[in-house]
Amino acid sequence: MLGKRHVLPPQVRSSRLFAEDGVLFPVRQAASALKRLFRRFCYEKHEMVVCLRDNRMPVQDLPRHYAEKLRIRLAVPEDVKFFRGPVWDPLKESFASRIQDPQFHAVIGFVDGELVGMAPFYTTSYRHPRYRFVFDPGEQGIYWFEGFTVNDWRGKGIALLGMNWLFSRLESEFGKNQVLTYYDSVNLAAKRLHDRYSFVPQFLLTCRRIGPIWLSSRNEVPPHLREMRPLRGRKKREAEALKETQ
Ligand SMILES: CC(C)(COP(=O)(O)OP(=O)(O)OC[C@H]1O[C@@H](n2cnc3c(N)ncnc32)[C@H](O)[C@@H]1OP(=O)(O)O)[C@@H](O)C(=O)NCCC(=O)NCCS
Repeated sequence: MLGKRHVLPPQVRSSRLFAEDGVLFPVRQAASALKRLFRRFCYEKHEMVVCLRDNRMPVQDLPRHYAEKLRIRLAVPEDVKFFRGPVWDPLKESFASRIQDPQFHAVIGFVDGELVGMAPFYTTSYRHPRYRFVFDPGEQGIYWFEGFTVNDWRGKGIALLGMNWLFSRLESEFGKNQVLTYYDSVNLAAKRLHDRYSFVPQFLLTCRRIGPIWLSSRNEVPPHLREMRPLRGRKKREAEALKETQ
């Protein structure tokens, strides 16, 4: 009765198509290369949370065991010799030229003589060459940007200790009382770091590049980025008292 042979089609598992070594792998590679090219030559978009910290705001205490061997100080032009290796080489040139500017400073951290972190800042307003946006921290502020910790040393409190170091000297050594900075809205580590220090988001800076042209606009900070970690105990009371006096 059944003269015909029923041949079932071979089962096609989605993993055979989409997994790392699936047959669509070359197509996916080509698509991501195209995407990269598009971003490089045609269009890219960055959203940055611009935030401000009043240095009178209290900060939570840091665990004592954090980065015990860390030595922190302000950079001097001779420190350019520490900018070597794949991590620091790309930053060497910009450090060497910026450090000649009397308004430029950088907090640098060493462990056993190895440069493990850096946080540069300007004591004046700064026009970002790429985004063509002027970050103005005001007379009483500094503009702090692009802090960096070497990969192997991340998550050990280097950035927190570096910030503590600067904030505790901000008024006595620089005569300033506020810090303006920004972080990429998708950079979770940077958000945690800035939340920890009660940086208050001011606005969302959206920068778009269309071909060679950069356009930037100020927007409202979305609610999920406005959420900050609450201070606790004595620090919370100090923060509330400060708000009342403002
Ligand atoms: C952001 C960066 C500077 C943090 O440096 P770090 O020395 O690792 O930071 P710390 O160890 O002092 O940790 C600071 C806070 O960030 C959190 N954090 C650090 N790395 C994190 C990660 N990968 N994911 C989530 N949170 C992270 C820590 O938990 C800590 O918060 P907590 O004390 O409340 O737990 C570092 O990840 C880095 O250099 N990133 C690349 C450059 C960059 O994005 N710079 C930011 C420019 S704004």
